[in-house]
Amino acid sequence: MLNKIKICKGAGCKAWKSEYMAKQLRQTQGSDGVCLVPCMRQCGGGASVQFEGHGEVLKLRDTNEVAYLLGSSSGALATAC
Ligand code: FES
Repeated sequence: MLNKIKICKGAGCKAWKSEYMAKQLRQTQGSDGVCLVPCMRQCGGGASVQFEGHGEVLKLRDTNEVAYLLGSSSGALATAC
């Protein structure tokens, strides 16, 4: 199943560099696979990231975690916003 990644661009998540993480993800996934979305109401503790089709919101705290995410899920990501 193909999933796009939603990354929160709300103020709380921006403080955790969510936009930078989105940029990193776009470099490997292509811009179509990554969507910046408004506040997911799960603020705090990291940048909120969600795979479409999964209810769970993940919290990323540094870009290494993004790399891990890509490593574990590559191939599953790529679809238009
Ligand atoms: S700012 Fe990202 S969940 Fe609220």
